[in-house]
Amino acid sequence: MDEYAAFAAIYDDWASHMTEDVPFYLELVREADGPVVELAVGNGRVAIPVAKETGKRIVGIDRSPAMLALAKEKAADADIELELHEGDMRDFELDEPAALVYCPARALLHLPTWSDKRRVFERVAAALAPGGRFVWNSFVFNPRIAAANDGKWDVQHGICHRVDHFPGDNRLDITLESGGSVSLWWVTRSEWEALIDVSGLEVEALYGDFERTPFDESSGEFVWVARKPD
Ligand SMILES: C[S@@+](CC[C@H](N)C(=O)[O-])C[C@H]1O[C@@H](n2cnc3c(N)ncnc32)[C@H](O)[C@@H]1O
Repeated sequence: MDEYAAFAAIYDDWASHMTEDVPFYLELVREADGPVVELAVGNGRVAIPVAKETGKRIVGIDRSPAMLALAKEKAADADIELELHEGDMRDFELDEPAALVYCPARALLHLPTWSDKRRVFERVAAALAPGGRFVWNSFVFNPRIAAANDGKWDVQHGICHRVDHFPGDNRLDITLESGGSVSLWWVTRSEWEALIDVSGLEVEALYGDFERTPFDESSGEFVWVARKPD
């Protein structure tokens, strides 16, 4: 089942507030000396402007045929070639070591269990060249925000949706009024650190936003830059 099929139709509006991450990821792609991979590339929201700006070929992996169809269409419209693969990030492998693997828009939170996350981190570590980077962002779970919006219908960017929290499963479900729902499993700072540690990566930087403000206890977003040791 393509859980993102319902989101594909509204994704551009849904993600219209996300603009600051594109220049951040763009800079990392510019710095990458070798193959670049976007995990959960979706409709190419980040990969297309990045490929256009840098002229680099981006490998994009996603398990949603609906999102990939949009990426293909948008790439053609922009006269960009993306190397798109339908597949699960838990199973991804590369022929050539990567200089950069990145995963924007909190997409790692779609992985339900510790073993799913650990598997992705181990695959990324195996895919990176020495000195290569793994970069991603995710929200900091905030119980005050969760309590305020739990179970309530809300309209953002013209899209009516509801968020339901299930603390016992560290999960939230986003349901669209128009139909369709996706789940996100929130991850704490120490769990991210453990994933970096067990996969043999090291922390290069932890920011609290895409302006590279150092992360502190008031930060609402984790922006991680991990690195495979030389
Ligand atoms: C929020 S969208 C992000 C799309 C794009 N990267 C962006 O920044 O706008 C999340 C994407 O993750 C994909 N996804 C979720 N779980 C996945 C998995 N296990 N393997 C590959 N893709 C996955 C979904 O199909 C969806 O396209």
